[in-house]
Amino acid sequence: MVPYQPPLPSQYDNLPVEEMCARVRAHKRGFGRRLVILGHHYQQDDVIQFADFTGDSLKLSQQASQQKDAEFVVFCGVHFMAESADILSEGRAAVILPDLTAGCSMADMAAIDQVEDAWERLTAETDAKIIPITYVNSSAAIKAFCGRHDGACCTSSNARKVLEYALSQGDKVLFLPDQHLGRNTAYAMGYPLESMALYDPAIDGGGLSEEQIRDARFLLWNGYCSVHQIFTPQQCERVRQTDPACKIIVHPECQWEVVQRADLAGSTEYIIKVITEAPEGSRWAIGTEINLVNRLANRYAGTKMVRSLADVQCLCTTMYRIDLPHLLWSLDELSAGRVVNQIKVDEQTRHFARVALQRMLDNVSSTPMAAK
Ligand code: 13P
Ligand code: SF4
Repeated sequence: MVPYQPPLPSQYDNLPVEEMCARVRAHKRGFGRRLVILGHHYQQDDVIQFADFTGDSLKLSQQASQQKDAEFVVFCGVHFMAESADILSEGRAAVILPDLTAGCSMADMAAIDQVEDAWERLTAETDAKIIPITYVNSSAAIKAFCGRHDGACCTSSNARKVLEYALSQGDKVLFLPDQHLGRNTAYAMGYPLESMALYDPAIDGGGLSEEQIRDARFLLWNGYCSVHQIFTPQQCERVRQTDPACKIIVHPECQWEVVQRADLAGSTEYIIKVITEAPEGSRWAIGTEINLVNRLANRYAGTKMVRSLADVQCLCTTMYRIDLPHLLWSLDELSAGRVVNQIKVDEQTRHFARVALQRMLDNVSSTPMAAK
């Protein structure tokens, strides 16, 4: 269920951008070290300019766990990221999401009762030990499920290391909720597509036979990102035909067929690193969210050619809900002594969700990794 975000009071209508920026800056000065603003790379420029730390999901999780002085963490990202920040900051800071409707459609594709049902079916069909691994793009309840069952979380920067860990602990992996990250990572590790089976929660019993469950090394949940779903093999082929010097780099949430046709694949942090380090004059088509692509295109305009792989706009509309008026409103309220939109995970869920997140952090470094 999408949480309700009441409309902002009318005084936020039509405020000039310069005034909003000046007021946010004043709040930041006023709060000093008591306030930390975290910003995901898909945030709009108007918002991310105020982030004390920017990053991909892994880097932001690490930042959240390292905030010892902050009383308030304003998370400019989506709901699951704010939940992780609340869990990892161990309740020291109040974590605020400026717009409660900033969710993630992929995270919503795995509900805890569906996962419990799947687990019952899968563990009934096989004696093999299944390790559940969840992409951090999932609810705290799913993370806690993984923590309780010897599993862990992963991000797109560390999925390979976490899968290696999972296979050292058990025989099979249940990968939630992004089938594409699961498939792309397992394939890059050398596992053939035949070793993977798709569990579809919309079909009774997941749509898998007993034999398919027994034979699969990777049971991939049928979830996906609707933004990265827009990138197609045909777009890659068009780039190859029309601009052979152009390199293609994509996020591993893209379909396997796209990742196979790309030159490189990796997290948002990895994409930024590759473009930053690329030689002058190089040409790049990027398969990820448009705010990040446009930021890189503007940053390197005149030295490197950067554009979207798609010819239609790939906007994460939920990330986009965090805008300047909502950021300003949350800070105005905070300075009036009112904590709005606090994201707080209940104690019971928090414990095992933290176990899953901590297993991930203990098993990985912060170096952005390629997924290909
Ligand atoms: P990153 O961890 O690569 O930033 O990905 C987060 C995300 O939601 C991509 O869609
Ligand atoms: Fe979720 Fe996709 Fe948006 Fe990332 S880009 S937050 S996976 S909907």
